Amino acid sequence: MPTSTQSIREIVATQPSAARIFERFDIDLCSQAENSLDCACAELQLSIDQVLEKLANAEAQEEGHLPVDPATLPTERLIQQIVRVHHQYIRQELPRFAEMAQKLADKRSDRAPELKAVVELLEELRAEMLKHIQKEEQVLFPFIAQMDQESIVVYPPARACFRSVSHPIFMMEQEHESANRIVAELRQLTIGFEPPEWACATHIALFAGLREFETDLKQHVHLENDILFPRAIEMEGVLNHRG
Ligand SMILES: [Fe+2]
Ligand SMILES: [Fe+2]
Repeated sequence: MPTSTQSIREIVATQPSAARIFERFDIDLCSQAENSLDCACAELQLSIDQVLEKLANAEAQEEGHLPVDPATLPTERLIQQIVRVHHQYIRQELPRFAEMAQKLADKRSDRAPELKAVVELLEELRAEMLKHIQKEEQVLFPFIAQMDQESIVVYPPARACFRSVSHPIFMMEQEHESANRIVAELRQLTIGFEPPEWACATHIALFAGLREFETDLKQHVHLENDILFPRAIEMEGVLNHRG
């Protein structure tokens, strides 16, 4: 839980979501990095209690990512959780990271030339992931939900654009591997998402955010590859057997 005497830099290093809150209150991560939260709020005439409350809420939300064992969730709830928590996180965070990385590379790539490659990789990751989650939400997940509700009587249904659910699943798994490869490259380039000693708060916030993204991606892929997709293949087997 952040305190008002901690510096902006310390807070974003331990709580990546704090960077979002500071942006909303116009607290500048670079110029205010060394200021205590108290000081930054006084300068901008902000209510310290209000900022602390928003920080605490964001922290509680982060901790609430996986409240129950996902393997016990009914399929519809599992899909909802994937979309509401993980897809939402990708839509919110990847454009923000790409923007932060670009700003940072413009200012600091003389001292940290790897930032240019970070910008390119983030662009690639953003483009791939946004397409990927759209395919899941528009094609694969509705199909799995239909199988779960047993609203598919003849299998495969005439209007399905694939003969077996294992085909789009295979494609999604390949795309997960590609995303994991990009994140692993980012980790390698940034030496384990460790900002240099001279890093400004934007740099620290970006690297802390990327580390958090890596963890979120692992959870997200686990929910799909290890729980949802095997369940869908099993449901398809039952439907085929019936037909
Ligand atoms: Fe997904
Ligand atoms: Fe996925």
